[in-house]
Amino acid sequence: MSTPYELLGGEAGVRALANELYQVMSQRPEASTIRSMHAKDTADVAEKLFMFLSGWMGGPDLYFQKYGTVCLSSQHAKFAIGRDERDQWLGCMDQALVNINASDEIIDMLKEPVFRLAEMMRNAE
Ligand code: HEM
Repeated sequence: MSTPYELLGGEAGVRALANELYQVMSQRPEASTIRSMHAKDTADVAEKLFMFLSGWMGGPDLYFQKYGTVCLSSQHAKFAIGRDERDQWLGCMDQALVNINASDEIIDMLKEPVFRLAEMMRNAE
């Protein structure tokens, strides 16, 4: 069984996904609430998301190697993330996967696990 990391094309593919997520977030009017929570320049968070997804998708655990064990939900605790904000983020991820021409196989494979991850960040109704 190939890992999502391999199916996305390794480092280049996962990095493209992380960068595209924040591109989409900056262009989608319906994601303006969560976009305004992020720094003006998303280069730093895109790099951290790439590092996190690399390990989470079965590639090198770059985020852990650099930051150690970090509870991502506590990193998000300072932001009000309810169902609407969660779904805004998921909408951006769905669009980003399509924009980088991810295969239907990887999109299906990621659907439920990414939803669970986003739900973990939710800290409000
Ligand atoms: C559910 C909706 C989510 C919202 C509204 C959200 C929002 C944010 C915001 C505002 C930041 C800080 C960015 C900055 O400092 O400019 C952040 C950081 C981050 N987010 Fe999210 N996020 C969400 C879900 C996720 C998910 C599902 C993941 C993992 C796949 C994720 C991974 C990260 C990472 C790795 C960071 C950087 C943390 C650090 O500083 O080390 N986020 N997020």
